[in-house]
Amino acid sequence: MSDIRFLENERIFKIDSENTSYMIKIADEERFVLHMYYGKRLKSDSVADLCRLGENPFVPSKNNRDRCSFYDCAPFEYPAHGIGDYRDDAFSVKNKNGHTATTLNYLSYNIMKGKPGIKGLPATFGSEDECKTLELICEDAYNGLEVRLYYSVFDDVDAITRSVVIKNKSKDSIKLTKIMSACLELDEGDYDTVFLHGSWARERAIDREKLGYGKHFVSSVRGESSHQEHPFIGVFASDATEDFGEVYGLNFVYSGNFIAQAEKSQFGTVRVMMGINPVDFEWTLAAGEEFYAPEAVMVYSDEGIGKMSRCFHDLYRRHLIRSEYKNKMRPILINNWEATYFDFNTEKLLSIAREAKRLGIEMLVMDDGWFGCRNDDNNSLGDWFVNEKKLPGGLKYLVDEVNKIGLKFGIWMEPEMISPDSELFRAHPDWAIQLPGKVGSLARNQYVLDLSRPEIVDYTYNQISSVLHSANIEYLKWDMNRQICDLGSIGLDSSSQGELFHRFCLGVYELQERLVQEFPGLLLENCSGGGARFDPGMLYYSPQIWCSDNTDAISRLAIQHGTAMIYPLSAMGAHVSDCPNHTVGRVTPFESRGYVALAGTFGYELDVTRIPEADRNMIPAQVKMYHSYSDLVRNGDYYRLLSADTDRKWDAWQVVSTDKSEALVTVVKVLGEANVKSKRLKLKGLAADKKYKIAAYDMSMADENPESVQILGGDSLMYAGINIGGLHGDFTGRLIHIIEAE
Ligand code: GLA
Repeated sequence: MSDIRFLENERIFKIDSENTSYMIKIADEERFVLHMYYGKRLKSDSVADLCRLGENPFVPSKNNRDRCSFYDCAPFEYPAHGIGDYRDDAFSVKNKNGHTATTLNYLSYNIMKGKPGIKGLPATFGSEDECKTLELICEDAYNGLEVRLYYSVFDDVDAITRSVVIKNKSKDSIKLTKIMSACLELDEGDYDTVFLHGSWARERAIDREKLGYGKHFVSSVRGESSHQEHPFIGVFASDATEDFGEVYGLNFVYSGNFIAQAEKSQFGTVRVMMGINPVDFEWTLAAGEEFYAPEAVMVYSDEGIGKMSRCFHDLYRRHLIRSEYKNKMRPILINNWEATYFDFNTEKLLSIAREAKRLGIEMLVMDDGWFGCRNDDNNSLGDWFVNEKKLPGGLKYLVDEVNKIGLKFGIWMEPEMISPDSELFRAHPDWAIQLPGKVGSLARNQYVLDLSRPEIVDYTYNQISSVLHSANIEYLKWDMNRQICDLGSIGLDSSSQGELFHRFCLGVYELQERLVQEFPGLLLENCSGGGARFDPGMLYYSPQIWCSDNTDAISRLAIQHGTAMIYPLSAMGAHVSDCPNHTVGRVTPFESRGYVALAGTFGYELDVTRIPEADRNMIPAQVKMYHSYSDLVRNGDYYRLLSADTDRKWDAWQVVSTDKSEALVTVVKVLGEANVKSKRLKLKGLAADKKYKIAAYDMSMADENPESVQILGGDSLMYAGINIGGLHGDFTGRLIHIIEAE
C-alpha cells in the first residue's frame, strides 16, 4: 500500500510506495523545501539530513553570513535561480524589471486521494483507490509566483510521478524562461548515467558512462522527443546490473523538446533534472495565469535495471495507456510500405489482402501514397483526399472489398505536415511554421503545420475525422516525418514566439485527444520516421508506437532492448519484413524475424504474394505462435537473459505471467559459430518451489513439440538453467513455453 504523511514535529513529508520511500523536509525558519531521501522503503520516520542541516551554524537563520554556501550545497526539491545556488536551477523568469532570479519557500500542503490531471497534457492516472497525491504549495515571494509541486504515488507500482504548476499572483506579466518538472538530489556516490541515444533506424541504443563532475545531459531542440536523444535519464550505482544494485530512472511524459540532466557538484552530490528544454522556450504569464509543466516519472529499484524496467512497464500499462486495445490482443496486420512503397493500386492491395487472409493475417494497413497526387515523397501532404487514379471508387470501395475478403482495414496519415507542392499550401502558404522573409528549410520536401494556431488544429482535425468517417477504418498509423526548424508563427506576437514549440506540442495533443474521444474503438499507432516520438506522452493516446523503420531482426534486438528498458513490449510496433532487409541489407531466417516481432505488437511488412514459398508457408505457424503467446507477451513481466550488446552471439529474453504460472523464453542466434555444444541459460522470475512443464514451439509442426517436453522445478530452471542444444547449422533460435505443471 502507498502512503503519504506529514510528520508535524519533524516537518517531514514521507511518501511511501510498497517498496520505496521519498522524504522531503521543510527546513529552517525560512521554510526551505529540501530533499531528504529516495530509496528502499523505510519503516522509520526520520533519516539523517542529506546536507547535515542540523549542524550549527550552517542554516541561514544561524549563519546568515554564509547564506550563499548554504544555497550552494543544500539538496533542494525545486532549486531557485540566481540567489547563491550555482548548480543548475529548476525555474527562472524574466520579470518586469528584466531580472531573472527566483526564490522558493514552502507555504502549505494538501494530501489527496487520486491524482489530478494536467490541463492539456498527457499524464499517468489512477482512481482514488489506486493512488495518492501530495501538493506542496510554495511561493516565490520575490516575483509574486505561486509554485505548486505535485507528487503522486501508486498502490500497485513503485513509481512516483512529479509535476509543477506556476501561477502568477502578481499584478504584472512575467516571463517564465525555464520550468523543470522534476529535480532529484542524490548523495555523493559512484554513479553511472544511462542515456538512450540513436538516429533514424538506430533508435534507443543504451549508453552507459561513469558520471563525472559537471553537467551531463541529453536534450532535444527538434520539436519532438527525437531519434537522437531520449527523454530518459538513468542514474545507476556503478556496480548495478540487470538484477542487482540501486538504480534511479526518470522518464518524461512529453513529446516535445526536453532536457534530462545529471550534475555532479563540487561535493560529489548529484542533482538530476528533467523538464521542457529551456532553449527556445519562453512563456508569458499574465496576472492570474498558470503554466502546467508536463509530468516526470521517477522509479527507484534496489534490484537492478530489470526491476526498474518492470516498474515502468506496469505503470504505463496500468496507469498511462488508455486505449480499449491496451488489454486486447491486437489484430495481426500487414502493412504495404515495404511491400510496394508508393507503387500500388486497389488491385495490388486486394491481391495482398487475399493472400494475407489465406495465411491467417487479420488486417491490411495502407501506408503512404493514397492521397493527393502522391507517387513519391515530394508532394501532397495536407491534401487528405483519395487519389482516384490509384484507388478508383475511393476509400469506401477499397475498404469494403478488403472487409469482404475478411480483413480489417487501417490507414496511414501524416496530419502535422504540409508539402509546398500541395493544394493546402497553395491556398494557405502561411500555415507552415516559418520565419517571415526566409524560405523555410525543407526536410523530405515538407514543412510542418503551425499547430499553435487553433484554426489550423480545427482544420486538421476535420480532415482526419472525415477520412475516418469515409469508410470502415479501424486502425490509424499517425506519422510525423520531419523535425521542426525556422521557428516562427504568424499567430504569435513578437513577445510570444518562444511559446511556439510547446504550443505545437499542445496542438498535437489536442488533435489526438479529440481523435480518441470521437473514435474510441480506433487502434491508433503513433510513428515518427520510425521511432522518433516513442515516448510516454504518445502512449497516453496510442497503445502502440512504431518502434523503428529498421525492421532487420538483428538490428531490432538492440532497438527493442533499449526501448524495453522503459516501455512494455505491448507498446512496441514490430513487423516481419522481407530480406535482404531494405535498411541494412542483411539476410536473416524468416523464423528469427518472427521471434523478434513477437516481442512487440507482431505483424508483417512485405509483399506476401511475392516472398519465397518457404517463408510464406511459415506464416500460419507464426500466426498460431502469436495467438498462443500474445496475451503472455503483452501482460507478462519482462526479464532480460542475454543481450546481443554484450554477448555478440545470442540474445534472449523472457516474459513471466504475474502469478508466475507461465513464461515464454525467446533465444535468437545473432552470430553463427562453428562447433558449439550447447548454451546454458538461467531463467528468471519463476517461483522456486513450483514445478513447470517446458516445451519448445516447433515452426514445422505449428505447435509445441511433444518430444521437447520436460518437467523441471522453478529452482532448477533459475539456478541451474536450461541447456539449449542443436546450435549448429541452421539453428535460428528457440521459443520455449513454460507452464506450471499439475
Ligand atoms: C515513415 C514511417 C514508415 C512509412 C513512411 C511513409 O518513415 O516510419 O513506416 O510509413 O514514413 O512515408
